[in-house]
Amino acid sequence: MISFLRRLWTYVRPYKARLIMGLVCGILLAATNAALYLVVKVGIDLIFKGEIKLSADEQSADGQIHSPKIPHFLRPLADWLTAHLPHVQASQGLVYTVILFIPVIMFFRSLFNYLNIYLVNWASTRAIADLRTKVFGHLQSLPLSFFTQENTGDLISRVTNDTQSVRSIIGSSLASLISDPLTIIFTLILLLTLQPVLTLMSVVVLPLCIIPISIYARKVRHSARAMQTHAAELSKLMHESFTGNRIIKAYNLEDKVLADFQGITKKFVSQTMRVVRANEIPGSVTEFLGGVGVTLILFYVVSKRTISMGDFGGFLVAMFNMYKPIKNLTRLHNQLHQAQAASQRVFELLDTPSTMIESASPKPLTAADADIHFENIQFSYGEKPILRGINLAVKAGQLVALVGSTGSGKTTLVNLLPRFYDPQQGRVKIGGTDIRDVSIKELRRQIAVVTQETILFHDTVRGNIAVGRPEATSEEIEAAARAANAHDFILQKPGGYDAVVGEKGVTLSGGQRQRVSIARAILKNAPILILDEATNALDAETERAVQEELEKLMKGRTTICIAHRLSTIQKADAIVVLSEGRIVETGTHAELIQRGGVYQRLYEIQFQT
Ligand SMILES: Nc1ncnc2c1ncn2[C@@H]1O[C@H](COP(=O)(O)OP(=O)(O)O)[C@@H](O)[C@H]1O
Ligand SMILES: [Mg+2]
Repeated sequence: MISFLRRLWTYVRPYKARLIMGLVCGILLAATNAALYLVVKVGIDLIFKGEIKLSADEQSADGQIHSPKIPHFLRPLADWLTAHLPHVQASQGLVYTVILFIPVIMFFRSLFNYLNIYLVNWASTRAIADLRTKVFGHLQSLPLSFFTQENTGDLISRVTNDTQSVRSIIGSSLASLISDPLTIIFTLILLLTLQPVLTLMSVVVLPLCIIPISIYARKVRHSARAMQTHAAELSKLMHESFTGNRIIKAYNLEDKVLADFQGITKKFVSQTMRVVRANEIPGSVTEFLGGVGVTLILFYVVSKRTISMGDFGGFLVAMFNMYKPIKNLTRLHNQLHQAQAASQRVFELLDTPSTMIESASPKPLTAADADIHFENIQFSYGEKPILRGINLAVKAGQLVALVGSTGSGKTTLVNLLPRFYDPQQGRVKIGGTDIRDVSIKELRRQIAVVTQETILFHDTVRGNIAVGRPEATSEEIEAAARAANAHDFILQKPGGYDAVVGEKGVTLSGGQRQRVSIARAILKNAPILILDEATNALDAETERAVQEELEKLMKGRTTICIAHRLSTIQKADAIVVLSEGRIVETGTHAELIQRGGVYQRLYEIQFQT
């Protein structure tokens, strides 16, 4: 329990000045709460009997009226009032003084209450915002494999819902952490010195409220965790149904998705209500027990009749004043459990280590004019080996084409070069340097990739092309788009280069998206180029046009090209045929055709169609 608070504290620490100021306001709030009791007591006594008693000791057994006594600090004000308002008698001046003190104390009470909550939330909101930023930053540092395993909706929920829930709980409980116990303590001390019997009678039943608190504390943690999990399931479902809405419509899945949503919502509601019960029942029990205490007092007062109006009125105010803090404290334990459950889900993300190890002392990398070597590569995503002993050299400035049936491991192999994944065995070298020895940023700066699935951001066409070189000029962006045969269609879009392409580029056709992503790679102007079926969504004619541009682009660069249409790679310096994670043939187009192996068969199949 404590360890999660300690961990949260590391985020609050930078803001501790405001936090401490807020907590000091909490102490002052507690003091004004106690002062309110004093003023009410003195005021009522003055109004009804002209009698003031500040302690039980002064109360004589026969109940005789004593000369009015008031706290010393009130004297000057009372004298001032009597002196300046001629028609006011000495005792009346006193009454007015005490009554005037009520709004003054209420003012400070409200002020400290506000500052207490404001400053504590000032600190906690910033602390949790930092935590959220840290989690988000950490997620960015995690390898691709993490994102293929985790669910986007769940991740979003952890970064938003769970941190939000920690924030609100920590904010509210920190605010009351100091002021509530101190209000209770201050008030109890005053009450015990002034009215020991009444006070003991009214609190004697309170220990009973430990029972509901302890019963519900056990349940709340489990429910809080379940609640957060269901919230995450809801965001999962929403994310999938919004991004995959086309399929939901095509397969008439609306009712099913809605039913799923309702099902999870029902579970979420039921767990939330458990938490609400756990938070509210102990408070209500305390309230009831407080009522029993007041009843006991009334019995005592009626039977003894030795108590002044002021004592009684002040006592009731004090009891009501203590009631909210006690209720808050009964909740505190549960709320901490809730915060723990939510923060655990956040910390789990932070604790996910990056399996992609950055070299501590990175070597420099010059990928231009450097050969690429894949040496004894063994790779698997899970159990099943995907690449089995790949040895491949790509000479500087050459074009190497990878062919093979789907699932043979072509994409997997090229993914190793920008270190989207690391091989379990073997190494990839650029210019003799193991790519694990250079900084990942530096490595990726020197590689331009057109991925098999085109990924566009919800941004303008210009923004999408410029991702690899944000400082590129409009002319450079346009030149890249022209080379990718994208310029014409971009101009036809309303807004041209400033047209927003929609989420994942939905407002473009598959072929248009692909050309934008080729333009992006062209603009990056990196010495190594990876084209993973970069033209598969283009019609034959457009493909030929793009192909010519790509060939110009490949000059002077080292290119690995995965081709779906073999006609596009006949000029490759080497063609590598993959089958089930192994290289089965290597050679030029002419050599491989002559050999009459796998490549020749693939070629014939394509040639016939
Ligand atoms: N992220 C992944 N997790 C698990 N298995 C994967 C993943 N990506 C690809 N695979 C599997 O690896 C094999 C090779 O895939 P891939 O390299 O994409 O083939 P290709 O690009 O040659 O069509 C396939 O059997 C595929 O199912
Ligand atoms: Mg592939």
